[in-house]
Amino acid sequence: MSPLRRPSALPSSRSSDGTDPSRKPPRRRKSASMAHRFCLGLSAWLLVAGCGSGDGESGPRLPEGSLDLSRIEWSQPLPSMTGPGHVSTVAEAGDDVALYSDLGIFVWSSGSTAGSDVSIRSWRDAAAVPALGIPGTWLVGVDGEGRLHRLRNGLSFGLEDITARYALTGKPVYELVASGSGSEVVFALENQLAITDGSALKLFDVSLRNLIAHAGRVAGFDASGLRLVEPKTGSTRRIELSGLVGLAFSPDGALWAATADALYVEKDGSLARRHRVLPGQQIRGLAGSLRGIWIALADESALSLALLRDGQLLQPATRPALPLDARLLGSPSGDVWVLSSDGQLSRYGQESGGGRDLALWRETLLPLFGRHCQGCHLPNGSAHIDMTTYSSWTRLRSAVLERVVNRTPSPMPPDGSGMLSPDERTAVSAWATRSP
Ligand code: HEC
Repeated sequence: MSPLRRPSALPSSRSSDGTDPSRKPPRRRKSASMAHRFCLGLSAWLLVAGCGSGDGESGPRLPEGSLDLSRIEWSQPLPSMTGPGHVSTVAEAGDDVALYSDLGIFVWSSGSTAGSDVSIRSWRDAAAVPALGIPGTWLVGVDGEGRLHRLRNGLSFGLEDITARYALTGKPVYELVASGSGSEVVFALENQLAITDGSALKLFDVSLRNLIAHAGRVAGFDASGLRLVEPKTGSTRRIELSGLVGLAFSPDGALWAATADALYVEKDGSLARRHRVLPGQQIRGLAGSLRGIWIALADESALSLALLRDGQLLQPATRPALPLDARLLGSPSGDVWVLSSDGQLSRYGQESGGGRDLALWRETLLPLFGRHCQGCHLPNGSAHIDMTTYSSWTRLRSAVLERVVNRTPSPMPPDGSGMLSPDERTAVSAWATRSP
């Protein structure tokens, strides 16, 4: 175990405030003038509180941009008599999304209801992790007693207790996450961290909560600071920073941390401040996703979303006004789940993103599939090409454009097996030319 390291790069002067020294002066002037223009648009009390005083006092700020945010209606709703209840968490893998709630577990595939299991009604956590011993991904939930259950969503549907397969019988689990390296899964136990690929179990004497992982680096935090564990080398280090509210890896593997008023990035075991929020705003949490890091940004009355993407802080022109106590969960699609404390779940994403693409496919292409394609493209259909799932369409996106829209080298549906109307062809074209 390596000695504990103290943060050495907490900003005390401008030179260490995390701004990139290689950034050229003209670019800097431009962002300063943009910030100035932004300030002019704000109300007077904000002007007094900080704007116009230069970035010395207000702290470093990331370049800003706009976010094409939309609420994603991703799924066929459950009948109103059987809503999903009070949702405690959500996990997704490929086409499958599972909601874990006080009524059980509810599963959708490509946005269509796929099943439910009401045998367990108390959940601590859930995650998509590499399947044990076989290729593929499992959705694994941690129940209220700390036992592990994987979802079977194939020929048979239901939950299977797999606690013993991870050699964790008698060791209650609180959280789990895929380590992002090989088939290793990380489990937060009462006072230990367990890391296993199903054959060797490594235990670390650290108590970690709010687990995240990327490429084999594992991190967690509490209000006093964050801890980084590298299972490969066995190193664990603690970085102190009080008032942490969130932690997330960006898609490029950088570790970001947030306090209520600032964003930090980790480098060599210390944190550098990169962004200071405006007076009157507060960061409430972070969630990593394929597209960047989602930020829960609160003002006095509501919560809004921002996205940290490619070094820019993107914010929507129209704020979504979410409940102040909502928690963010990142989605592998690049979207973000918003879970309020009363268990209501909603999903937001970029208009150009994965969730919106799924929604569009459900609205326009799934009905069209029923009219024109399913005669041959069901799982055991004559074409031997299953096109019943969203992911099969995304895999065949360019082939769909070629065969259905351009009708080359041979048309789909084949000659003599039906024709799409011009409107249907336009709808296929609109979807097939997207690049989420
Ligand atoms: C009458 C049966 C039939 C119908 C109806 C049909 N297909 Fe096909 N489709 C096939 C067969 C057979 C193949 C494989 C041979 C080939 O590529 O021509 C195929 C291949 C394809 C491929 C190429 C897959 C690849 O791997 O490149 C796409 C894309 C496709 N179909 C889309 C569609 C869509 C979308 C529809 C409905 C709008 C549709 N098909 C309707 C029989 C059908």
